[in-house]
Amino acid sequence: MCGIVGYIGSQDVAPVLLNGLEKLEYRGYDSAGISALENGEITTIKSKGKISDLRKKVKFEYEGHAEIGIGHTRWATHGKPSDVNSHPHMSYDGKFSVVHNGIIENFVTLKQDLKNEGISFASDTDTEVVAHLLAKYYNGDMKQTILKVLSKIEGAYSLGILCADKPEEIWAVRNASPLIIGLGADENFLASDITAVLKYTKNIYQLNDGEFACLKKNSVQVFNPAGEPIEKEVVAITWNVEAAEKGGYEHFMLKEIMEEPEAIRKTVSPRLGENNEIILDDFTLTKEKLESFKKIYILACGSAWHVGMVGKYVIEELTRIPVECDLASEFRYRNPVVDENTLAIVISQSGETADTLAALREAKSRGARVLSIVNVVGSTIANESDDVIYTWAGPEIAVATTKAYSTQLTIIYLFALYAAKLMDKIAPEEYDAIIAAIQKLPEQIEQILQMKDEIKALASRYAFLEHAYFIGRNLDYAVALEASLKLKEISYIHSEAYAAGELKHGTISLIEDDTFVCALCCCERLYDKTMNSIKEVAARGAETLAVLTDNSPNPGEECDFKLVIPSTHELVMPSLEVIPMQLLGYYIALARRCDIDKPRNLAKSVTVE
Ligand code: G6P
Repeated sequence: MCGIVGYIGSQDVAPVLLNGLEKLEYRGYDSAGISALENGEITTIKSKGKISDLRKKVKFEYEGHAEIGIGHTRWATHGKPSDVNSHPHMSYDGKFSVVHNGIIENFVTLKQDLKNEGISFASDTDTEVVAHLLAKYYNGDMKQTILKVLSKIEGAYSLGILCADKPEEIWAVRNASPLIIGLGADENFLASDITAVLKYTKNIYQLNDGEFACLKKNSVQVFNPAGEPIEKEVVAITWNVEAAEKGGYEHFMLKEIMEEPEAIRKTVSPRLGENNEIILDDFTLTKEKLESFKKIYILACGSAWHVGMVGKYVIEELTRIPVECDLASEFRYRNPVVDENTLAIVISQSGETADTLAALREAKSRGARVLSIVNVVGSTIANESDDVIYTWAGPEIAVATTKAYSTQLTIIYLFALYAAKLMDKIAPEEYDAIIAAIQKLPEQIEQILQMKDEIKALASRYAFLEHAYFIGRNLDYAVALEASLKLKEISYIHSEAYAAGELKHGTISLIEDDTFVCALCCCERLYDKTMNSIKEVAARGAETLAVLTDNSPNPGEECDFKLVIPSTHELVMPSLEVIPMQLLGYYIALARRCDIDKPRNLAKSVTVE
């Protein structure tokens, strides 16, 4: 998704903007650009392609030393990736430069109106409309001008604005797309994401929807949607710049996989008190309230939805409340049966996914109570929820999620146990056994991570696959969904996940000699059933790989290859079995020389529908 940066201070602006844009690369982009303001003139340099291309262009074309500017990484929505469609966009009179993340939904009408007034457009973007509107309504007062323009535009957007007449100000607007302000000493920053400013400051303002701000070198003034000045709380970031850098690993994805034990420790340890009591900070769901829920909806997208699939099994099993796990993009457009006796659990790493946010609002508008599981503190989904449990996974940079997925799973277990205990639905010994299993996860994951060379060797065997199938039953099926997504998103191999029992209803017709089938057989209760499915595909020529526990009855005799991992309580087994699947996806993509951290066409944070 698009990324915004801005800077005002005493440093040369171009390197600061380019460094910031590099930190936003992981969000996914296809072009980039910067505008710098010096001596009353705005210079804009843009380029299709990578930040490194833009860097070269800036080196050759820009000789100035401006100390104020804005920059952007674009992920095309309106108009193809090109130099012209890249941001920043200039107004017809050269006075305004604008960067934008999101979509101006009524831009077609606005563009036509502006064209009728004789204004010509240089690009195909919706953003250019904003630049021209600023010029049209400008009366010397930036606040009034911005309020006027905001009253004209509809949609989801955050904006960074430079005005040639105002060499000491950057303006920022947030409406449904993330935007933060970094607070430095005699310098201030604007960014879509904390990682872009971490090198310079750890103190930020988190803008809320509708708020806008004026950044000067020595001050930042934030306004509410009515234009009244408001006080913002300074949020201090606790993680450091190294946490958002590769630290010697070839890819962020591998680094983040290796960080999983620690991320789970950080998410779990502070939440376990004496006698295994689970402590969920600022959690307001009481026994009575929990008992009033007739239904739970889990709403999420992508891998977070796969966590929800695990959640369905775990929460239903422990609380005996019926759980439905719905894709946020589907839920938002149907007529879901939701009322005040419904709990909506919303899962999101970024806390900004457009469909997930819309589903949250849909559930809330129908009376549901909303509990979110979010990684990014202060994100929109967190802000709009009744209760939030943070995952504390730290920044996740690789587009393909790993440690966020794992910490989300952990929170699901903790929540299910907490609710089950409060509602007297779980025997104390079972409760203690699951807590013990959760506490042991980091150590067991470390053991599995040591299997990486074995998995790498297997991966080289599968580097030329065209198709892959992942099968499993119950929780194994929920993990098969994630295993399949991991492989396809980073290696571009066509891959599908099926409930093993469904094979016979169609998919088995696709199996022929050497078709790759990976079976997740960690659910010991269903081991024989899944093994039967393996025999069926093997009899039709498939090459099979099974993921088994060291507790399996006759470890994978029927399989061509197997990965044997430690066993644990059945309900938390997904946390272990997903690890070899993440590594397998990673090493297959590596063998295929794919752009692992930034797979083609994908974005880390999908903030438009
Ligand atoms: C994108 C990411 C996925 C993620 C999904 C939902 O597709 O590539 O890794 O699972 O968005 O994102 P969220 O931030 O809501 O968890």
